[in-house]
Amino acid sequence: MSSTLSNSGDGDDWNGGLDAIADILAFHVEAGVDVALGEAPVDRFAESEAGRNAAGTQAVRVAPPVAVPDGSRAAPPRAAAPARPAPAAITAEPSPPPPDVAALEAREAAASAPDIDALRALLERFEGCPLKHTATRLVFADGNPAARLMLVGEAPGRDEDIEGKPFVGRSGKLLDRMLAAIGIDRTNAYIANVVPWRPPGNRTPTPQETAICLPFIRRQIELANPDLLVCLGGPSAQTLLGIRDGITKARGRWVEYDTGSRVIPALATFHPAYLLRTPLGKRMVWRDMLSIEAKLGEKSSGTSGE
Ligand code: URA
Repeated sequence: MSSTLSNSGDGDDWNGGLDAIADILAFHVEAGVDVALGEAPVDRFAESEAGRNAAGTQAVRVAPPVAVPDGSRAAPPRAAAPARPAPAAITAEPSPPPPDVAALEAREAAASAPDIDALRALLERFEGCPLKHTATRLVFADGNPAARLMLVGEAPGRDEDIEGKPFVGRSGKLLDRMLAAIGIDRTNAYIANVVPWRPPGNRTPTPQETAICLPFIRRQIELANPDLLVCLGGPSAQTLLGIRDGITKARGRWVEYDTGSRVIPALATFHPAYLLRTPLGKRMVWRDMLSIEAKLGEKSSGTSGE
């Protein structure tokens, strides 16, 4: 893609040029480009084409004429057939297994983790999710894994991908304020995501990517063993709680979540990123926060019957 920008001294042209640049940048952001890797563009197609041509025109080594005793020159031996160009070095990452195989591997790997640290180490080594190869790093969790409250979002964004911790960007700051309103911070909450690698350009994870990551977050919840689970946003609620209603309808209702070892109360609420766009929703989230506070109180005073 190329664009030209002329400044004929006419103010409109100049503004038009700025608009064009803004459009191009917006296009790149939409397409998921968020990091500049170099000053100048590199045409990888031209590079590989040049490599092919160089291999095809490699000089064929011809043996020099051989002197024979009668002074004549023997014909040089026939030129050896041109050597086959060596196969190009494979520099690409190994391609991940098909999604169904990857999901099966994920289930087996997750089930084998005896504790949270082992689960994290397994995820660091897991090659089955293609998002691993586009993300900067694994975003496993933040907070206290021994906390009674666990919150799970959808997938990391740009800031989380850079820092390697969930909810550290703008929506994370809002989440911190929401929790602070009921006396909770990251020393007494544990925070993770359904998908622990950032999808390129913050796109929604595909159903296949989510299915591959699901066994890991389910095992993470089981190993952290919280008293309450809170799903932040519709995608997390749909994936973990099987909620089919939209989040506006589903939020604020306590349901049961089976960790694999026991059944705990779980609640869906609005994602803080949604609240940044729709501040009116904060009123409902405030109610959800109070409900979480009350439930934590209930559970610690033993009125839940457990
Ligand atoms: N949104 C999420 O769902 N998770 C994060 O970690 C950050 C933003």
